[in-house]
Amino acid sequence: MTRLTVTSNENETIAAGEQLAQEISKIKTDRSIIIFLEGELGAGKTTFTKGILKGFNYKELVKSPTYNIVEIYETDKYRVFHFDLYRISEPIELEEIGIEEYLKELKSVSIFEWPNNGKGTLPSADFNVQISYNGKDDIRELLIS
Ligand SMILES: Nc1ncnc2c1ncn2[C@@H]1O[C@H](COP(=O)(O)OP(=O)(O)OP(=O)(O)O)[C@@H](O)[C@H]1O
Ligand SMILES: [Mg+2]
Repeated sequence: MTRLTVTSNENETIAAGEQLAQEISKIKTDRSIIIFLEGELGAGKTTFTKGILKGFNYKELVKSPTYNIVEIYETDKYRVFHFDLYRISEPIELEEIGIEEYLKELKSVSIFEWPNNGKGTLPSADFNVQISYNGKDDIRELLIS
């Protein structure tokens, strides 16, 4: 099932992320739930992640993991790993950050920005979110499947 959501500001994208958090919560599994966020620089992937975390009732600061590659958040139901693979170019680099260990963690949600940089190493996603925009206004199209 695929759905299209159009947002016209940051808060609407956060609300879309919150909505996805509710759907994630309905998945009955203990294994790590995988979310791929695709879209160019500044599309709104980190903004959407803020929404997911808000939906999990996380109230503190959420920052872009660009420099650390992964940020970890403890929420009521899940431990959330937010990855930014922008600077990853070889599978060995994912091994080095201990990707296997993260993915093995029970009751967790792993969110990936730039998932294509982990192709061949990452498992397939439970939800794929493609965010597109025309580069000039605040309109974003979110294709969630
Ligand atoms: N409708 C919208 N949805 C999301 N963000 C929007 C929207 N309109 C404007 N923005 C702005 O666009 C920017 C999106 O930045 P964000 O860090 O979420 O992008 P990103 O996809 O994570 O980029 P990067 O690949 O660099 O990590 C923010 O500054 C946000 O305020
Ligand atoms: Mg980002």
